[in-house]
Amino acid sequence: MAHRDVRNHLLFEVSTEVANRVGGIYSVIKSKAPITTAEYRDRYTLIGPLNRKSAAIEVEELTPTDPYLIETLRSMSDRGVQYLYGRWLIEGAPRVLLFETGPAYSHLDEWKTDLWNVAGIPSPSGDSETNETVVFGYLVAWFLGEFVYHDRTRAVVAHFHEWLAGVALPLCRKRRIDVTTIFTTHATLLGRYLCAGSVDFYNNLQYFDVDAEAGKRGIYHRYCIERAAAHSADVFTTVSHITAYESEHLLKRKPDGVLPNGLNVVKFSAVHEFQNLHAVSKAKINDFIRGHFYGHYDFDLDNTLYFFTAGRYEYRNKGVDMFIESLARLNHRLKTENSNKTVVAFIIMPAATHSYTVETLKGQAVMKALHDTVKEIQESVARRLFESSARFNEDSGNDFSAELTDLLTGSEKVLLKRRVFALKRHTQPPIVTHNMADDANDPILNQIRRVQLFNNSSDRVKIIFHPEFLNSNNPILSLDYDDFVRGCHLGVFPSYYEPWGYTPAECTVMGVPSITTNLSGFGCYMEELIENTSDYGIYIVDRRSKGIDDSINQLSDYMFQFSLKSRRQRINQRNRTERLSDLLDWKRMGLEYIKARQLALRRAYSSSFESQEDFEDFFDGTEMKLSRPLSAQASPRDRTGMMTPGDFGSLQEVQEGLNTDDYIGFKLPDEEDDEPYPYPL
Ligand code: UDP
Ligand code: G6P
Ligand code: GLC
Repeated sequence: MAHRDVRNHLLFEVSTEVANRVGGIYSVIKSKAPITTAEYRDRYTLIGPLNRKSAAIEVEELTPTDPYLIETLRSMSDRGVQYLYGRWLIEGAPRVLLFETGPAYSHLDEWKTDLWNVAGIPSPSGDSETNETVVFGYLVAWFLGEFVYHDRTRAVVAHFHEWLAGVALPLCRKRRIDVTTIFTTHATLLGRYLCAGSVDFYNNLQYFDVDAEAGKRGIYHRYCIERAAAHSADVFTTVSHITAYESEHLLKRKPDGVLPNGLNVVKFSAVHEFQNLHAVSKAKINDFIRGHFYGHYDFDLDNTLYFFTAGRYEYRNKGVDMFIESLARLNHRLKTENSNKTVVAFIIMPAATHSYTVETLKGQAVMKALHDTVKEIQESVARRLFESSARFNEDSGNDFSAELTDLLTGSEKVLLKRRVFALKRHTQPPIVTHNMADDANDPILNQIRRVQLFNNSSDRVKIIFHPEFLNSNNPILSLDYDDFVRGCHLGVFPSYYEPWGYTPAECTVMGVPSITTNLSGFGCYMEELIENTSDYGIYIVDRRSKGIDDSINQLSDYMFQFSLKSRRQRINQRNRTERLSDLLDWKRMGLEYIKARQLALRRAYSSSFESQEDFEDFFDGTEMKLSRPLSAQASPRDRTGMMTPGDFGSLQEVQEGLNTDDYIGFKLPDEEDDEPYPYPL
């Protein structure tokens, strides 16, 4: 490779979720933007495919100023490539370059043939997701190749997230494009698919015949892209040790290290502001509940707890099956113990729908009408009350108490009665807020039917399934997701497959207790750092060594124990939970990204370091910064000297290459056991 300036290197981060929310990867790049732009300023650009709908809201167009970028983009657009260059309107305001894939489809066949010729990756027709991936990958490789041809002075780090952004990686290698590459996988395709079926995934990871399993599921070509990406990158990483282990077996490359996900932790100037926010958001959820349960609103909101689960609709992987079953057991237990608590459990998972149901809209409408009427009456009653009090004269012989009982006029009483009659209904409060496209076959609804949690009056656990992500512009439950989380009491995420799991992490930084599992990257990470996680509002269900029934009981027991807490205990626990935020802050987690980039630079550009001293100087500086012991212990467990999960063994050994012999927080099943491959091929 040519001699390039490694100190002032450029960083391109490539993902399909740039300015385009799909799942957790969007959360990674968006929340990380402030620290990355602080480090790189205008040397940092995010690259993604252009999604006009979301870009219209999230991106402000800019004219490029970097001469090499201008030249590169001009040359590409001369050949028909369309793009949007601009500023992503989020904290940190990073530059983004979004390629329009549509016009480039004219090259699709040519590029597919090339991909087969240079990398042996097949791409059958009819898989539109793969077509997108191929077109986007070729555009990115084109861009990078052209860019380093124009800019011959600075080193370039190109960091790719997930297989969907991975096609450019084998191309960079085959074309010997003078960049250094990092590939971070946030899951493996096979892992997701196998776990979604009924496979004992974790005990059999080392036995799967990967090609055959991918073939059976019709994803062999996608798997090839993912595997090629992992093998062509200069540095290969995952988001947790559990996924590192999985990648080693399923992608056949041991990751160089773990880059755990952080969050952009917002500190309020008043320490207890987050508690106030809880009360404010809870009041909004209360409003929704009154409407949803109209006619059956026979429980006390002061003794009601809001539990929720949320995420992409992956029924088994996200543990919704387990959540519903344990809610049924919780319901039974609360009833048997004559508990005065009601639990309302929300499931927020997008599914195909045809808008809100009439019943859902009506519930909110009748409650609003009642509210407006009461408000009007309240104002006129207040006026009359004031008048009669001001004018009351004891000598008149009138009875003041009698005057007080007559404060409502006849027409007001009638109006009020009408509103109250409108609250009558002969059906149960609905489970689902929307008309489902396929109600009869929906796995969540079917499981609810199976366990018969139908929102009966006698049920202490009620369920509301909201099959759409939350948004403050929705006519129903009009709260942004974050505000909704703040208003709830407990997040429940009993995932079976969860490389990291932002949802419980987000709860933690907002001071909301949550339940996760020891099969999620986040759960393993917290378990490793903290002695008694449940004291800090992080409950970890054992889905690794326990049988399914025991795990369900454990989950149900956690929820039951939580329901026994007094308000004071809940407030205290929220305070303890919120104190863990620092452990998840990008200021800490981002160090692993720095290490990965250093390793990538070293691997690809070692000749660009002028001398051995220069080299050592470059890494020594950061080495000191990276592995200094914690000055103040941030976590309750004594892990002096450890800063981030990567320190548990991997990227810190930047000088020597990496060693991921032991996946901390995820102990392997006994690999010596010589068991046969358990599934028929
Ligand atoms: N989320 C959201 N709106 C919702 C529910 C969830 O934006 O109504 C977000 C949530 O904030 C989280 C992401 O969806 O950042 C899910 O990420 P996670 O890592 O938990 O799972 P993934 O979908 O990536 O598997
Ligand atoms: C916050 C508020 C308190 C409120 C409490 C309710 O702490 O600052 O004013 O009483 O939330 O907590 P709960 O767990 O009952 O929703
Ligand atoms: C993936 C995983 C999720 C993780 C997210 C961000 O989509 O499913 O567990 O939190 O990526 O890394």
